[in-house]
Amino acid sequence: MAVPLLLKNHIPDVEWPIVQEDIDAILQLKKNKNAIILAHNYMTPDIFHGVSDIRGDSLALAQQAVGLEAPIIVMCGVHFMAETVKILNPTKTVLIADLQAGCSLAEGITAADVRALKEKHPGVPVVTYVNTSAEVKAESDICCTSGNALKIVESLPGDEVIFIPDQYLAANVAKLTRKKVHTWQGSCMVHERFTAEDVTELRKSYPGVKILSHPECPRPVADSSDYTGSTAQMIQWIKTNKPEKVLLLTECSMSDNVALENPETQFVKPCNLCPHMKRITLKKVRRCLETLSPEVIVSPDIIARARLSIDRMLEVGR
Ligand code: 13P
Ligand code: SF4
Repeated sequence: MAVPLLLKNHIPDVEWPIVQEDIDAILQLKKNKNAIILAHNYMTPDIFHGVSDIRGDSLALAQQAVGLEAPIIVMCGVHFMAETVKILNPTKTVLIADLQAGCSLAEGITAADVRALKEKHPGVPVVTYVNTSAEVKAESDICCTSGNALKIVESLPGDEVIFIPDQYLAANVAKLTRKKVHTWQGSCMVHERFTAEDVTELRKSYPGVKILSHPECPRPVADSSDYTGSTAQMIQWIKTNKPEKVLLLTECSMSDNVALENPETQFVKPCNLCPHMKRITLKKVRRCLETLSPEVIVSPDIIARARLSIDRMLEVGR
């Protein structure tokens, strides 16, 4: 793969030789070891545009992770994303550049919490956001992502759902469904910091700007945005609507990546960094491929049970 010119234009000239050396080494390692790299939309542009083979939001990554042929898969994203890839590819070696790349949502709920919720609401289906551990998925009926949450909720029988663990995603789904939504007190440390007052101020500071938000933002933020959707849906909205000026209420690297591919749109960039996503660096990806570690391990029992909830989600999308 030739290093895209647009990436070279984005990196300061003084840094480029070092970045290029790492990119070249990673591309060679991928070839030598028959490895493939998946990257989430929040990866920095050097990883996203420089070395990855498959890019997208959580849903696209899960969909495209099914039946990968390469024996070695490197997931450039956070731990729950790598676990999902492992669950979908149990016989493959799945690597993540930093095992500490967690997620405030995944850390905020345990399998025991889900069992307690099921006891409290017997017979009510459990819809679990993919931003959770494999153990939590194993206790769930079906998974969802921010890109298909409403569709998944609507696909279920009955007029109630347990929707965990993100209270804000749950609130943003609840306003679009007639079902009663029971949720959990989880939140994303990146998106919960945006406020409706921010949106008002930003509109004053940048007249005419289109404001897009992720559904992990609190409901007043989503309600005052021009569009709310998953990271991939935001990208699609920009491609379709070609706004003159846009602001993405989400993780910072997202705007960098999308701006490179949409030079006619001006990106206004107040954003929040995800410290977990930012643990994944180009250097660590290189080391990970050199040493084939750290590897993501999930027990066969958990894989079998968690797989059911992911497969059910993918089935709804088909
Ligand atoms: P998407 O599935 O929309 O890419 O979101 C993943 C995520 O972690 C958002 O914070
Ligand atoms: Fe988790 Fe939020 Fe980071 Fe996404 S942005 S990985 S939801 S902490």
